[in-house]
Amino acid sequence: MSEPPALGNGAHLQFMGPLSEARAGRIAVRLAAAGPGTVVDFGCGWGELLLRILAATPGATGVGVDVHGPDLVRGRANAERAGLAERVTFVEGEAGTLRRTADVILSLGAYHAFGSVRDALVAFREMVAPGGRVLFGAEFWEREPSAERLARMWPGASAGDCTDLAGLVDKAIDAGFRPLWIETVSRDEWDEFESGLASDVEEWLLAHPDHLEAQAVREKLDDQRSMWLRGHRDVMGFAYLTLGAG
Ligand SMILES: C[S@@+](CC[C@H](N)C(=O)[O-])C[C@H]1O[C@@H](n2cnc3c(N)ncnc32)[C@H](O)[C@@H]1O
Repeated sequence: MSEPPALGNGAHLQFMGPLSEARAGRIAVRLAAAGPGTVVDFGCGWGELLLRILAATPGATGVGVDVHGPDLVRGRANAERAGLAERVTFVEGEAGTLRRTADVILSLGAYHAFGSVRDALVAFREMVAPGGRVLFGAEFWEREPSAERLARMWPGASAGDCTDLAGLVDKAIDAGFRPLWIETVSRDEWDEFESGLASDVEEWLLAHPDHLEAQAVREKLDDQRSMWLRGHRDVMGFAYLTLGAG
């Protein structure tokens, strides 16, 4: 009998975050328009958006860094399939200690590697080449979270975990950027992401209801869904900020 898949491995997801195909395409075109030569993705996962940007920018080379080896294996296989293997390197390691100059820096749901949002933005401002761009994807509060909602989010969630959108953009400006584009994901993009995160494990559970681990898996799925539907849904947003460095 097959073992349960790890919850959150993203097997059914194209992107490891709330991001539609349409938005990914627009972002890739926008970043490619400046003709970058180098792109670095800090906390890349399997680097799907990195690959899309490279595909839209002939001749550009990319590096993705992540601590999670299996995602990098998936990224390399996808790069091979897309004919980009010669132009991209996936490196296993700590993103927060790496310093690389690049024309485009990506940090999507992964600023934690540098500490806080501020720490990450300051590090990116130092690394991005003059005239370069940073695509920064991070959470913000769509509305102030009540104590009741916070208690239903991830363990230890607090109002100080995020700012509102204006506060997030202010942090980018304080770090020395100008906001070239500000966009926030739709409820559909969130629902696709959260459903996709669970769906491979839900499918496994349906096929293995009597497995020794089935009850434990069911409980984990129920906890994760509850954090989403009773906790952060419609309270936490996710923004993609395209930031310019003069
Ligand atoms: C929410 S996922 C986002 C992945 C990818 N950026 C995307 O949008 O598809 C966060 C990623 O950050 C990676 N990560 C977390 N801490 C890290 C660190 N200190 N150094 C490198 N990667 C890290 C995780 O392994 C995970 O792949």
